[in-house]
Amino acid sequence: MLDTLGSTKRTHYCGALRPEHAGSVVTLMGWVHRRRDFGPLLFVDLRDREGVVQVVFNEETNAAAHLRAKEVRGEYVISVTGKVVMRDKDKINANLDTGHIEVIGREIKIFNAAKTPQFEIDGVQASEDVRLKYRYLDLRRPKMQHNIKLRHLAAITVRKYLDERGFFEIETPMMIKSTPEGARDYIVPSRLTPGCFYALPQSPQIFKQLLMVSGFDKYFQIVRCFRDEDLRADRQPEFTQIDLEMSYVQPDDVFSVIGPLMVELSRLIGVKVELPFPRLTYAEAMRRYGVDKPDTRFGMEIEDLSLLLAETGFTPYRNALDSGGQVRAITVKGGCKYSRKRLDELTEFAKRFGAGGMAWIKLSDSGESSSSLSKALGDEKVKELAAAAGCEAGDAVLIVAGKASVVAASLGALRNEIAQSEGLADPNKFNFLWVTDFPMFEYHEEDGRYYPMHHPFTSPNDEDLDILESNTGAVRAKAYDLVLNGVELSSGSIRIHSRELQRRVFSVLGLTDEEARAKFGFLLDALEYGTPPHGGMAIGFDRLVMLLAGESSIREVIPFPKTASASDLMTDSPSPVSDEQLEELHIKIVE
Ligand code: AMO
Repeated sequence: MLDTLGSTKRTHYCGALRPEHAGSVVTLMGWVHRRRDFGPLLFVDLRDREGVVQVVFNEETNAAAHLRAKEVRGEYVISVTGKVVMRDKDKINANLDTGHIEVIGREIKIFNAAKTPQFEIDGVQASEDVRLKYRYLDLRRPKMQHNIKLRHLAAITVRKYLDERGFFEIETPMMIKSTPEGARDYIVPSRLTPGCFYALPQSPQIFKQLLMVSGFDKYFQIVRCFRDEDLRADRQPEFTQIDLEMSYVQPDDVFSVIGPLMVELSRLIGVKVELPFPRLTYAEAMRRYGVDKPDTRFGMEIEDLSLLLAETGFTPYRNALDSGGQVRAITVKGGCKYSRKRLDELTEFAKRFGAGGMAWIKLSDSGESSSSLSKALGDEKVKELAAAAGCEAGDAVLIVAGKASVVAASLGALRNEIAQSEGLADPNKFNFLWVTDFPMFEYHEEDGRYYPMHHPFTSPNDEDLDILESNTGAVRAKAYDLVLNGVELSSGSIRIHSRELQRRVFSVLGLTDEEARAKFGFLLDALEYGTPPHGGMAIGFDRLVMLLAGESSIREVIPFPKTASASDLMTDSPSPVSDEQLEELHIKIVE
């Protein structure tokens, strides 16, 4: 028999009880986390969102409640009224926030029974598929409760901070015109206009720019974005941005809003970060770290060996240098311990990023060198290269030659791989970093055309305007990223506010005036009605909370995420719709 809630009111959260509550009579509500029956004494660990507290039912002092308590099983939903008492010294559980006290149960109500869950709420983590299928149970786990609470605290912090600085929170539409750039759009068929579709926004980019045209001056939104792209641990098809835009700003003005916000957000988990954040240009980041989102918690910077090999006759290096490429290296502290097998694995790893191969030099603890290059270059040269790469006794140098982009990609990836396997990155360190002066465009050989590196509304650097058409690949943009511990946390730019410049950029991107009008006519029109200079940024909210929570996947901080194949295992979506629905939408499915 189940009890009704009736007029029973909760007085405290289970996890909030502390020694100062000793002596009070409390009413708690929650789930049976664990139940231990010792005959006349029955212990129930009762759990709610704030934590777990131990309740004791004693047959001798309260027979009725004890009898009723015997009926409960794991995950039953109950209320308990009882007195908070201090535990005996030898019964204190220092691992539990409530471990100094317990509740002597006087009265118990059972509101609902529960089937045995697919996995123990406090037990070993189940496989991700099972967790996602029974997400409502998975979310009961204390770690998930903590992550989702942290997400809430972060959102509240952002809203309060931006409100205090004069930002308005303004909503932008979720059903918009399809203008895919970067990723594919998710599209929504229109019933009223047969054959036409809306798209779900990849970001509010154009609308936030229009809000600047409309004079709102400072806008923000914690907003859902949708992108039909290949998924990874830090990518979901629907994800959340802290999106913001400001009028009359330069990059520095954006940095001075975002920097202190990051300080406040880091404080939520007790991490102190110093302002201002270091800055690197894109070119410098690529040169020193091989990636545009370097993890600066460890060194292992890339060194250039090209000059030392300028005269080399060794064919792979000669070819690389003669065709405008490079020979570069990283030095792994303590790397002389690497076996041939490990070095072969690292070589294979580098090849995944386009490297033709990977050479190595090891200096033993007594300073003796051994190298895959000894035969080709001689011991003298090998020692010279090791010294130039900063290699000391006990270290190893890993060398890659080839096109600059391939060398950067493979050494950048090797650097991260080694840091991960050697545990070089201090998980308690928060290294924020601004990366600036991104190239405006990237050339895709297979399509034979330029694409915007950020998006087509990004402003080129003033000093590069003259070479927009003549030396397109060299144009830098007023674009910047905020990187945290090797993760691209947010991206932004100063935008184009001149109709003429926007036309030139579209033209460089291969859009004719007609095509540009068809896609972005409303924006081009708006630019002609007095658009202020403006710029902004969007912070990946899921990534931010992931890093604050110390997780390595954004799925751990999203209540109901999708799998890597963009499906929701709990609701079983995407799923077919009825023939009537399709007919109404004028859609035929072609096998
Ligand atoms: P961008 O496309 O770089 O810029 O996105 C900004 C930030 O959003 C996060 N992000 C994602 N997070 C989870 N899953 C995804 N699929 C995903 N894609 C992006 C990243 C990224 O840094 N409108 C511009 C911003 C601007 O210029 O103001 C934009 O959307 O953390």
